[in-house]
Amino acid sequence: MTVSVNHESIDILKSRNEAIDFHCKKGVRKMFKGIIFDLDGVICFTDMYHYKAWKQMADSIGVYFDETINNRLRGVSRMASLEIILERSEKTYTQEEKEALATKKNEIYVELLKQMSTADLSEEVKNTLDALRAKGCKLAIGSSSKNTKLILTQIGLRDYFDAISDGNNITHSKPDPEVFLKGAEFLGLDPKDCLVVEDAEAGIDAAVAGGFASAGIGEASKHPQVTYPINTFSDLLKIQ
Ligand code: G6P
Ligand code: MG
Repeated sequence: MTVSVNHESIDILKSRNEAIDFHCKKGVRKMFKGIIFDLDGVICFTDMYHYKAWKQMADSIGVYFDETINNRLRGVSRMASLEIILERSEKTYTQEEKEALATKKNEIYVELLKQMSTADLSEEVKNTLDALRAKGCKLAIGSSSKNTKLILTQIGLRDYFDAISDGNNITHSKPDPEVFLKGAEFLGLDPKDCLVVEDAEAGIDAAVAGGFASAGIGEASKHPQVTYPINTFSDLLKIQ
């Protein structure tokens, strides 16, 4: 018997099998009701702006700062980031002085964020978000940043998500799971029904601590406890 199959259907079958393999390897075969996305480094890239702003602040007080130190700040709150930078300082700062330094950095950072636009949202990210939503998934943001809404506005996603949990509604930053637990609560979902998408190790630690499955991209894909290591954002369509 001759079966005629065109290339398109072979591709569809192939990607479906890959998706199933993906789930089987992890011993998990489920659909998530909600997905909670970290913002910086997952939906868009603000690393360079954080770096420039921290560098300017550090230079102003004569403290050494470079991109390797900047990498340690991923997923870490503003004040905790400052503490990491001040590890290199000989001077001890009062709480008030620290707050002034963090405010100074944020003023520079916010000014730089004004350069962001819808061009900073990739087609891949937008199309993948749309496809996940079309599958009936609720979508939320779970970010430590207090500038989340500003960044979402700049890239044209201010009203896109079903819920936003950010640095303004938490008292403990990642690796504490609070930001994701609040995100799940805002969606009206149980953590076990949500997938967390992260690029930072502290974010995967937070997902694990909160009882969430996780998809890790970039450095987070190497985390020993990540549920789904992924290479690129659209790989999420192989999971869900
Ligand atoms: C994200 C970034 C961190 C940043 C934190 C706080 O998690 O990955 O690098 O320190 O947000 O950002 P904020 O905008 O509140 O200073
Ligand atoms: Mg991140």
